[in-house]
Amino acid sequence: MFKENIFKDKTILVTGGGTGLGRSMATYFSGLGANVVIASRKLEVIQKTAQEMEKQTGNPVLGLQHDVRDYRNIKNLIAEITNRFGQIDALVNNAAGNFISPTEHLSYKAFDTIVDIVLRGSYYLTLAFGKYWIEHKIPGTVLSTVTTYASTGSGYVVPSSIAKAGVLNLTRSLAAEWGKYKIRLNAIAPGPFPTKGAWDRLLPDPSMAKAMEQRIPLKRVGKHEELCHLAAYLLSDYSAYITGDVITIDGGEMLAGAGEFNFLEQLSEEEWQVMLEKRKR
Ligand code: HXC
Ligand code: NAP
Repeated sequence: MFKENIFKDKTILVTGGGTGLGRSMATYFSGLGANVVIASRKLEVIQKTAQEMEKQTGNPVLGLQHDVRDYRNIKNLIAEITNRFGQIDALVNNAAGNFISPTEHLSYKAFDTIVDIVLRGSYYLTLAFGKYWIEHKIPGTVLSTVTTYASTGSGYVVPSSIAKAGVLNLTRSLAAEWGKYKIRLNAIAPGPFPTKGAWDRLLPDPSMAKAMEQRIPLKRVGKHEELCHLAAYLLSDYSAYITGDVITIDGGEMLAGAGEFNFLEQLSEEEWQVMLEKRKR
């Protein structure tokens, strides 16, 4: 979809880039010429992924251990990245934690764990990178992976829902405040995109995944490359005038759930005939 090397000489950090959607996005950016940095808690996973990615794309990939809840380590993170690549141009807040549960079964620590990874982790990195970009007059870009329920709310994933809503608000608030520094912040709200991390925790029974697919107007889950195209667009200069926005990529799932009469999709032809006959009376 994009010209080769649109990210040449650009350095992009993807948190949680060792697995799932983070890995797919980081690989795609690397293929488009970026210097890619991936960071998460599991050093072994990160280093192995970095090596495989480098082999696949031929561009440099740096794998670093970093827990997004650790503000103090960000100084080292920035130092390691700038020592290797000179500067940092973009941050992708992708790392997350989540589980499905009736809320009344959750401890306050369960809430803390998710909110700390998703919300605190995102604002720690965004704040530190913003300071770095402002000091060095770099027109940085932030992209955060939220969810469609960041806007609507959702039961059974309440810690994640409130944390993602906070990340979306951070995106909008700082887009207004930091535009003067040429810093752009946007978000992507994906519907279901199969990954081991999300599926094991959120859709442990295959029937749940099937039911989810059926209620999506396009009748399928997302493909990783579809999300990667959108992410590359939002990080690149092709979207230079877009900031503070969230783009939903969900095959219509969110709107299907919201529309008053969308449930009528379940009616058979025969049931429709009866309905239409009744209307004539
Ligand atoms: C209820 C749980 C729980 C569960 C943990 N806890 N798992 N409560 N249900 N399934 C509680 C624990 O009892 C504990 O509270 C507290 O949470 C911390 O648990 P730890 O296991 O010590 O946490 P930690 O080792 O830091 O692991 C974090 C984690 C884990 C979030 C629990 O799942 C993880 O590392 N996840 C990272 C990857 C991930 O979640 N990916 C999915 C993203 S998908 P107590 O009180 O007992 O001490 C996503 C997609 C959304 O966001 C949209 C899809 C369509
Ligand atoms: P995933 O593979 O489980 O990715 C989560 C990543 O976050 C892992 O690589 C994990 O690595 C990292 N992580 C967790 N806690 C961390 C911490 N404290 N510090 C640093 N890194 C941490 O799941 P995914 O499906 O690809 O999710 C990626 C993003 O997309 C998340 O933001 C998720 O909310 C969002 N999303 C996904 C879907 C979907 O359908 N898949 C839908 C909507 C939104 P370590 O364990 O090594 O730390």
